[in-house]
Amino acid sequence: MYEQISHSVLNDILDELKAEYQHDEFQHFFIRLGANFYAIHDLFSQLYGHREDIKAQLTKLVKALIAAYQARNNDLKQLDFAREKDHNWFLSQSLVGYALYCKEFANDLTGLRKQLPYLEELGINLVHIMPILDCPTTENDGGYAVSDYQKINPQVGTNDDLSDLSEALKQKNMLLVLDVVVNHTSNQHAWAQAAQQGDKKYQDYYYTFEKREIPDQYEQSMPEIFPEQAPGNFTWNPEMEKWVMTVFNDYQWDLNYQNPAVLIEMVSIILFWANMGADIVRLDAVAFLWKKIGTQCQNEHEAHLILQLMKDCCQVVAPGVLFIAEAIVAPVEVTKYFGEDAINAKECEIAYNATLMALLWDSVATKNAKLLNNAIKSIPDKLERTTWLNYVRCHDDIGLGFEDASIAESGYDPVMHRKFIIDYYTGNQEYSPARGVAFGVNEKNGDARIAGTLASLAGLEKALEQNDTQAIGQSIDTIILLHSVILSFGGIPLLYYGDDLGLLNDRSYLDDDLKKHDSRWVHRPTMRWDLAEKRNTIGTTQSRIFNHLKALITIRKTTRAFADYNTRTIIDVDNPHLFAFSRFDRLKRRASVLVLCNFDNKPQTLQLQQLQEQGYLTGHHAKDLATGNTIALTDDCLSFKPLQFYWLTYASV
Ligand code: GLC
Repeated sequence: MYEQISHSVLNDILDELKAEYQHDEFQHFFIRLGANFYAIHDLFSQLYGHREDIKAQLTKLVKALIAAYQARNNDLKQLDFAREKDHNWFLSQSLVGYALYCKEFANDLTGLRKQLPYLEELGINLVHIMPILDCPTTENDGGYAVSDYQKINPQVGTNDDLSDLSEALKQKNMLLVLDVVVNHTSNQHAWAQAAQQGDKKYQDYYYTFEKREIPDQYEQSMPEIFPEQAPGNFTWNPEMEKWVMTVFNDYQWDLNYQNPAVLIEMVSIILFWANMGADIVRLDAVAFLWKKIGTQCQNEHEAHLILQLMKDCCQVVAPGVLFIAEAIVAPVEVTKYFGEDAINAKECEIAYNATLMALLWDSVATKNAKLLNNAIKSIPDKLERTTWLNYVRCHDDIGLGFEDASIAESGYDPVMHRKFIIDYYTGNQEYSPARGVAFGVNEKNGDARIAGTLASLAGLEKALEQNDTQAIGQSIDTIILLHSVILSFGGIPLLYYGDDLGLLNDRSYLDDDLKKHDSRWVHRPTMRWDLAEKRNTIGTTQSRIFNHLKALITIRKTTRAFADYNTRTIIDVDNPHLFAFSRFDRLKRRASVLVLCNFDNKPQTLQLQQLQEQGYLTGHHAKDLATGNTIALTDDCLSFKPLQFYWLTYASV
């Protein structure tokens, strides 16, 4: 959009920076800068308009963009053009992701490069490497406490190793996802170190306070994120003789985005990794980016403005690069991270679908889909050109983030229901096959979350211990059922390393003083390449899980209805054990695949009439894409085995 005030500011800035660019090479940059500058100026003014030095700060930002564009290599610029042309490229059903810790998965980046054929065999073409930037060897929150944003952690390699890996991935048509921890740094980061040595400039990069007064005001309304291991949101720093805001662990210092210097630094860092070959940048903990006394300091409007600014800047330099929002917040809040008040993605194109994830675990425990059916509808529609990251497990805990109202609507008492779910997964109960561990238990308000690998939570650990063949089968069926949903729901399915082999909980973290207070380590095991070999032996659990997932992934990739063009309808069915939705092929605009899942560990049936009245399955038979079987629709009912699912398409399609 052209608007005179911002345009004249841009003219001034470019005039000042003339010496730093040459027109020819910058043609595309300037077209994009011109297109986005109105928004950049507007957002910047909303955030920092009260400052006298706003123009100087804006000039610095533009300078940072010029520098980043100059550093972007030609191949990446070509990729940007290609993606601009094919701007819906990431909505395709062909994407299937995998998240892994480099060290635990393959020791280092070179090792990871060597294991790419394994991922390819499974059908993976998007690899999220958990944080690999330099961080202290001791207090690092699994890499989420960064001490140097431009250097790969020497424990896994060098920046050159990452470039090699990025190159190898590009050759295989696989996407690279890297983390940028935008909300906080390690207390060992150079900025925090300078702050500790008394440098006021860097103290302003953080929220620091001499007295308890303001921290106490903040504390009134801020929840505790790690109540057990890091209670409270402020830490006394004796070197500075100040309190510093530390929402997560006490060594993770929250960055102060009220200071534009922080924003400009972070934009440069994001672009640095975009230029190192990241196709997608995962922005960590985005809900926390703006703090305001009297609020929970999450999901503030300004956090959205910051993300919009980051996106606008990234579009100028590297328009082919996408953002993932890691915002594990209420359904009504999460969709705002695609872009508040927008039609197309304006902040992050991709967001974690934590609500679906938690609801799936609820269904496994209750063996019905009552809450899933109710609460899934509370997720607002998302924008065009955005997509979910659908997952069953990740490196974090499972929080029961669905709303009390939905629980009550499903006929449960919210407090009792949450208690039941926590107990089911972490209580080592006789009636439950799950072997999880509690995380983030808050004695003050009774909250708790769940840790554990998919296989252990789904019952495989207990079943193997008891050598119970039937229970082993059920846990494998549960693992496959959960994946059948994330592979078909609409969005990018993100598998978690080790789940493809049914890796069990790893309790070795309890012997490590640095990890034992954080039970999330129970589900961050070392990859078992010895077990991976067993995927080739028919009948082993590894083969049953790996090969079934592999087959489903192959089917997903060729089923156009599974692309994510907001083409899904949740279908109400009378049987509470079943979850049903239809997926439309965008071009045909009619139901082309029906996904039907039985969460019960007993057989169930579905009256076909219910579906037929809604226009589904009106023919004589349908094909189950998942098995290749043709299903006769001549009976009144469709039968389900325990934990069975269908991907039904009409035989004629
Ligand atoms: C994100 C990460 C989590 C980490 C937290 C603090 O939520 O996923 O692992 O502990 O941020 O960085």
